[in-house]
Amino acid sequence: MISIIVPTYNERENLGELVDRISKALKDYEFEIIIVDDDSPDKTWEKARELAQRYPIKVIRRTKEKGLSSAIIRGFKEARGDVFVVMDADLQHPPEVIPELIKALENGADIAIGSRYVKGGRVKNWYWWRKLISKGAIMIGRVALPRIRNIRDPVSGFFAVRRNVIENVELNPVGFKILLEILIKGKYSKTIEVPYTFGLRRSGKSKLNQKQIFNYLRHLYRLMKWEGEIDRLIKFSIVGMSGIVVNQFFLWLFAKMLGRGVVNLMLANVVATEIAILNNFTWNDLWTFKDLKGKPLYKRLLNFHLAALTGAVVQWVVFGALVYLGVHYLMANLIGIGFSFVVRFLVNRHVTWG
Ligand code: GDD
Ligand code: MN
Repeated sequence: MISIIVPTYNERENLGELVDRISKALKDYEFEIIIVDDDSPDKTWEKARELAQRYPIKVIRRTKEKGLSSAIIRGFKEARGDVFVVMDADLQHPPEVIPELIKALENGADIAIGSRYVKGGRVKNWYWWRKLISKGAIMIGRVALPRIRNIRDPVSGFFAVRRNVIENVELNPVGFKILLEILIKGKYSKTIEVPYTFGLRRSGKSKLNQKQIFNYLRHLYRLMKWEGEIDRLIKFSIVGMSGIVVNQFFLWLFAKMLGRGVVNLMLANVVATEIAILNNFTWNDLWTFKDLKGKPLYKRLLNFHLAALTGAVVQWVVFGALVYLGVHYLMANLIGIGFSFVVRFLVNRHVTWG
């Protein structure tokens, strides 16, 4: 059986068409629709109960709790099916796509995502800047959380998932992006994205506003922590600092051995830098990324050097740009180092130990 979970808040006007189209789309399946309403002022729950007399609907009217993710989690708890489909009530998610999501699961996927951003998918009537914000936010998520880096629309509110993916998994009810939560914490091996067109809201208005960007970033941070990526970031910076010490020490040592002529110092600098790079590589390999040794040693070593080089270039370019803009050169260098740090961490995380 398939359980369709629909969170609602002030969706009274949309419910009739939604339920009707779901029923038509799923005529070959056994299904239930679970409507989780947070005591909507427009009495969505009342309309849902009325429809429940003609359709296989279970209505949950929550009077104490509120929130999109927690409503969906409540829906999961009530669902009896072995496949859960989550969708919005406002018809921006076409019910006709549900069978495609289910087929994807039948063909071996554990999670099937209704996707705006794979070939064939799109959003209707969005200004370019809205698309840009949406895609930018997704890109940040994919970079911050390597586990989802291949997923184009990890914040979709339209998806199907097998029951066992989330069974006994503690999902955080805070935030709006329950799919992110599932993609990070769920037990699955295969995901598929099914293209669809994110249409226009039929009636009523969106509840997700600009403030959500900040909440989204907080959500990403929590998930990074959960994944251990924040720990890695801390370890990587500790190793980085050890590298500075090593670099300084060897530069001092060589200067003592070879003297302080410019040519000698420049040569000593190169060697000291290389020793520091090897120091950092060793500690990162044994500690920061010890669980991620998919690539052979020589490739990790090579990529680590490439990351260092990329970081140096970024540092230099940022420095130049900021100095050009009138920023004090010491400040410019500090900011350049900050950028370099982030770039080196990400290249190493996604490539060297990717
Ligand atoms: N029970 C409950 N409680 N339902 C809620 C709540 C809540 O606090 N807030 C929103 N909903 C319901 C709405 O009634 C609707 O059915 C659905 O959740 C989505 O809300 P919208 O307000 O229509 O969201 P949106 O269209 O801006 O955003 C959608 O697209 C995003 C991708 O751009 C959602 O699907 C998001 O999850 C998705 O990330
Ligand atoms: Mn909507």
